[in-house]
Amino acid sequence: MRKVLITGATSGFGQLMVKEFLRNGDFVIATGRNLIGRRHLFEHERAKYSQSFRELNLDITDQQQIQLVAKEIEQLGGTLDVLVNNAGHGLFGAMEDLNSEEIRHQMEVNFFGLVEVTRSLLPFLRRSKAKIFNFSSVFGLMGFPLTSLYCASKYAVEGLSESLRIELSFHQVQVCLIEPGGYRTDFGQNLKWSHKNPDSVYLPQMKNYQNLHEHFSKKKTQEPIEVARGVLMLSLRRKIPMRKVFGIDGKFSYALKTLVPEFIYFPVMEFILGKVLSKT
Ligand SMILES: NC(=O)c1ccc[n+]([C@@H]2O[C@H](COP(=O)([O-])OP(=O)(O)OC[C@H]3O[C@@H](n4cnc5c(N)ncnc54)[C@H](OP(=O)(O)O)[C@@H]3O)[C@@H](O)[C@H]2O)c1
Repeated sequence: MRKVLITGATSGFGQLMVKEFLRNGDFVIATGRNLIGRRHLFEHERAKYSQSFRELNLDITDQQQIQLVAKEIEQLGGTLDVLVNNAGHGLFGAMEDLNSEEIRHQMEVNFFGLVEVTRSLLPFLRRSKAKIFNFSSVFGLMGFPLTSLYCASKYAVEGLSESLRIELSFHQVQVCLIEPGGYRTDFGQNLKWSHKNPDSVYLPQMKNYQNLHEHFSKKKTQEPIEVARGVLMLSLRRKIPMRKVFGIDGKFSYALKTLVPEFIYFPVMEFILGKVLSKT
């Protein structure tokens, strides 16, 4: 039976992936912030899969909790076949309007947390010749105004994953980036916006951006189960790709960024986004 660990299992893609991997017959270690206290989340799974399901508290920015999770895996036999680094959150807003604490927290969760979890679990992952799935985003493929810190955190995950893909291939561990477009999870509600500063010089752009975001959030039709099932299917393959893009918007953005030369891409983006975000 494969052992699978998923971070950020309290919501969205993470919660769905726990259910999909359990249904597939895997031994699943669901982790999340205060997961043990949120008993309602996996009531059904706890009863149905009592022999192949564990719930552990894991705030990925907490070293002590990471060590406790590692100890638990050691006790479960010291192997781990699949790691899904899914936990993450979004901080949106103009860089100038954000404070150092917010900026560091964004990198702490989306990047350093992922690094520390992976680093601590690598002995088990190597032993199992495992597969690692790192959640990035279309924002990890293209920079976007008023989203710079979220983009930076995901670009960091991109660079790390591309490097580890080769570094860990010496030990038959495979690494894959998951690149979702916009999906209907709680990501939008959990977003942190910076624009509370009434004197911000970015206020007009922020307002337009937020309206745009709300408009598209309401229209989001892509169901997160597609990504959860997609990750499960990938994990069952012998060889996994470097990256897997999900959603029409994801595929469009990926094509735009990889096929259009930069000397066309940036002037066009500056023109279009300048018009859209600066309109009064
Ligand atoms: N939905 C989209 O459109 C979309 C698009 C591209 C990429 N993504 C990426 O997909 C991943 C999952 O997001 P989602 O869409 O499923 O959003 P979500 O519903 O907001 O879920 C995010 C999960 O991450 C957890 N989390 C946040 N900070 C954490 C921390 N310090 N330690 C442990 N867990 C933490 C949250 O836990 P709490 O419940 O405790 O807050 C929650 O379980 C993220 O990496 C996100 O960047 C999402």
